[in-house]
Amino acid sequence: MLEKVQELLCEVESFSPKSIEELEVFRIKFLGKKGVMNDLFAAFKTVPAEQKKGFGQALNQLKQAAQRKLDECKDFFENTEDDGEKIDLSRPISLDNLGSRHPISLVRNEIVEIFKRIGFTVSEGPEMEDDWHNFTALNLQKEHPARDMQDTFFIQKNPDVLLRTHTSSVQVRYMEENMPPIRTVSPGRVYRNEAISARAHCIFHQVEGLYIDKNVSFADLKQTLLYFAKEMFGEQTEIRLRPSYFPFTEPSAEVDVYWGLESESDYRITKGTGWLEIMGCGMVDPAVLRNCGINPDEYSGYAFGMGVERIAMLQYGVTDLRLFFENDVRFLKQFRSTI
Ligand code: PHE
Repeated sequence: MLEKVQELLCEVESFSPKSIEELEVFRIKFLGKKGVMNDLFAAFKTVPAEQKKGFGQALNQLKQAAQRKLDECKDFFENTEDDGEKIDLSRPISLDNLGSRHPISLVRNEIVEIFKRIGFTVSEGPEMEDDWHNFTALNLQKEHPARDMQDTFFIQKNPDVLLRTHTSSVQVRYMEENMPPIRTVSPGRVYRNEAISARAHCIFHQVEGLYIDKNVSFADLKQTLLYFAKEMFGEQTEIRLRPSYFPFTEPSAEVDVYWGLESESDYRITKGTGWLEIMGCGMVDPAVLRNCGINPDEYSGYAFGMGVERIAMLQYGVTDLRLFFENDVRFLKQFRSTI
């Protein structure tokens, strides 16, 4: 008899049900009304008195083991099944960790959208460029002093493989591949070998624009820039053009917007003038058109180019450009938008 109880104990200990149904079969077999335990307790009565103590202990041990196994397994099934049932697929997701667009992307998109509304397409090109597209086609011959204005990163000491210093290179590619009328903006990342500070970085972003057709005049350029400034900074915005120099445009100008002189920071960022420079522009030099296969006697055009970081700093009142590159989530989380 004692041997039988030992065997049953082993069976109980090694029992591992795969389902709640299997567990129920176990319960009935051991602890049910007509189960093993009741049979054994009935048999207990017939055991000789001197064996009663040992047998009784063994029976109690078996009963406890069976009960413990039952409780443990029940617990396991109930919890795991519950978890499965607790997943409510219709529950709204938590928005806490939803990402936001980078402020540079927001401002770039906004600039691009403004020009798209007046018929500009978007064109992109490679960040690694050759000398022709970044310099020579744009009227910057080999020894041109203006090349120094754009401290260039060269790749592996090869003067013909470089990181583009402006997205004017995309405009060259676009002119090579498309005939006028051309209306395109080229957003993208550019590189210049400059010391990193609150106002400058060796990587930044530009949006440059190009418009080429018959009889395009400087007045068209000015009107387009005024439209842009009003859309970007508000209906009251005024602009002014100051004569400047770029090798690829003639005449060339620098565009300022009137920022005002109301606060101390206005004084600081406008250097006391109230005006803020936001981009360069000009009429495309006929030599550039010729380099790109467009007849300058038939067509004329204008080009402009602006730094996205600079506009973003103005838009959001950010005073240190490096914040755009650190990707500190506390900074980035402040920018939300639909575009
Ligand atoms: N490419 C010039 C720059 O990077 C900007 C520019 C573009 C100026 C087109 C005039 C015309 O600074």
